[in-house]
Parts: sequence; C-alpha cells; structure tokens
Amino acid sequence: MVRVVRATQVEIETAVQALRDGELVAFPTETVYGLGANAQNPAAVAKIFEAKGRPKTHPVIVHLDSPRFLHRWVAEVPEVVTKLAEKFWPGPLTVVMKRAANVHDIVTGGQDTIAVRVPSHPMAQQLLTAFGGGIAAPSANRYGKLSPTRPEHVRDELGDAVKVILDGGESQIGLESTIVNCADGKVRLLRPGAVTAAQLRSVVGDLLMGPDLESPRTPGSTPSHYAPTTPLIIVPAGEIDAKAAALSEGGVRIAVLAQRLPLKSHKYVTWINAGRRPDQYAHDLYANLRTLDKAGCQKILVQDVPTDERWDAIRDRLVRAASSISESDDTGSMAVLP
Ligand code: TXA
Ligand code: MG
Repeated sequence: MVRVVRATQVEIETAVQALRDGELVAFPTETVYGLGANAQNPAAVAKIFEAKGRPKTHPVIVHLDSPRFLHRWVAEVPEVVTKLAEKFWPGPLTVVMKRAANVHDIVTGGQDTIAVRVPSHPMAQQLLTAFGGGIAAPSANRYGKLSPTRPEHVRDELGDAVKVILDGGESQIGLESTIVNCADGKVRLLRPGAVTAAQLRSVVGDLLMGPDLESPRTPGSTPSHYAPTTPLIIVPAGEIDAKAAALSEGGVRIAVLAQRLPLKSHKYVTWINAGRRPDQYAHDLYANLRTLDKAGCQKILVQDVPTDERWDAIRDRLVRAASSISESDDTGSMAVLP
C-alpha cells in the first residue's frame, strides 16, 4: 500500500529503507517528481520501467546529492562539466557523460553514457544524503504522459507501484531539467529547461544545439511525449478566440490554455488563463493540462507562446504534446510552432 508522507527524519528513514529494500520511492525535485530506485540495484531499477510502462532501452537519470561522488558514475569528468557543476548544481541541469565501467546497463539503456543530476529541492537533498548513493529516477508518470508536479499526480497514476511518496508540495519549476551532452568534452543541448541556452553559453561559450547522429538517444526528446490524453493543438495567438468559437459552435467541446482572458464567453469552452510570465506558466503547465484533460473536452487548444528564449522549454513540451495527434486528425490545424 502506498503512503504519502512529509519528510520528518523518520519518514526520510522510511524512504531510505524502501530504497535499500529495492522498492520504489517517489520524491519531489525542483523540476518535477521523480520515481526513484537504488541505481546500484538493477532489479530495483527494473521496477521503474514496469511501473511506468517504459521501454527498457530508455536510459534514466542518476541523482546525486553533490558532485563529490561523480567519479563513481562517470569514466571522466570533462573540464567543461566542472564549470557547469560549479554554476548550476544543485539545480535543474542534467549532464550526459561517459559512464563508469561498473554502472548497470539498465540505468544507461546499454549505452556508453550516463546522465547525472544534482537536484536542489531540500527534500531530494535530504533523501539523497541519507541514502548515501545514487538514485535512478525518471519523472514519476506513465510513459509518454504528463510529468507530475504534485504528489497526488504520482499517487493517482502510479500509487500501487510505489512504496513511499514523499510530499514536497508543488514542484517549484514545473518542467523537466535542461539536458546537455558533454560526453565528447563539448556541450550540446539535448532538452531545453529552466537553465536557458543563454545561461549555458555564459559559462561554456560554445553551445551546440539539438541532438546529432553521435548523440546518445534521449527518448524524452522524441515527439509524442509529455502528452495529455485529449488531442492538443497549438493555435496562433491572434486566432485563439475565433478557433475556439468556431469549433464550439460546431458542437465540439473545447478546452483552451491561453495567456489572457477570452474576448467573450463561448458556449462549451473551458478556458484557463495561464498568464504571460514564463516561470509561472511553466510552474502551472502540467497541472493546467491535467485539469483541461479531465474537463471532458474533445480538444485542447493552446495559444502559441512567445518566441523569446525564456519560453523555449515550454514551447518544446507543447510541441511534443501536440505531435501526439495522428496525421488523420481532421481539424486541419496542426502545430504551428517550428
Ligand atoms: O527534471 C528531470 O530531469 C526529472 C527529475 C525527476 O530529475 N527527470 C526526468 O527524467 O525528466 P526522464 O527520464 O523523464 O527524462 C530524462 C531524459 C530522458 O529523455 C532520457 O532518455 C534522457 O534523459 N537520458 C537519460 N540518460 C541518458 C543518457 N545516458 N544519454 C542521453 N539521454 C539520457
Ligand atoms: Mg519523463
């Protein structure tokens, strides 16, 4: 039976014991909730894949409380990673490096690289320090679905598979970490997140963009990820009212995620105004999409977000959520974002 607990010392010890026993523990991070297992126990890590319904070849991030034991997990720490770690750890940055020889294949998906992150959330820090080892953890959601930003999201989706859920309230950032590949000593952005490209450049100079043929596989960067069940389409900012009106007048129940109030109220339209501040928008995004997903609508229309870099991670997740609609979708309105 799953337990949702606050992190007193006793409860951290309960979670640590569960990890030592090879069980799964969901824990808060500043980005999203993670579904954790002892990274040195392959049978425990295998439970993550079962619980999520995630293909076994997909690698998971190893979480550490600080870079002090990094050498146990990676073959070498490129100089550039030392700089990144000084600036961004603990925090929402995941770094891919060459793996150490003794890291289990199930953690790396059989690849020769490993992804490592030092989260800043105090409860994640508390758990990692008390556990004393690496915790392998993807986001605590079913494969391909929205990441959880509240403990009840984890309980509702994965409750039966998890021994303990540590309750750290709402995730402060709300989107998954920025991922960079540094395996060859250069820095390549694989997934945008709260640490922006500009911030990375200010530390490392050159930043290569997007995966190349050499890049390790990053399944979370395939389309059709981070998706609600209701088909989602992105609509140019100026057309959102007209589109919602046209569809709802045709009898389609519409949910809208916008950045302002509707110009007038439309029948059948559930409208969320998520505002114009990217940090607040990101914080609320997955919870908003969950709310709209449950509103009994046939489509979710999302108002296109601004092109400035602070919206990059948000746009990335929205485009992936939108690309889970099949080609045969007949609304005639596909994602408009690049
Ligand atoms: O914010 C986050 O990163 C959250 C919290 C829990 O830390 N975790 C998270 O994990 O988003 P997950 O598994 O949902 O996404 C991690 C991404 C996946 O797309 C995975 O393929 C990629 O990181 N990844 C993991 N190990 C990798 C590796 N060795 N090389 C390339 N990509 C890797
Ligand atoms: Mg995920």
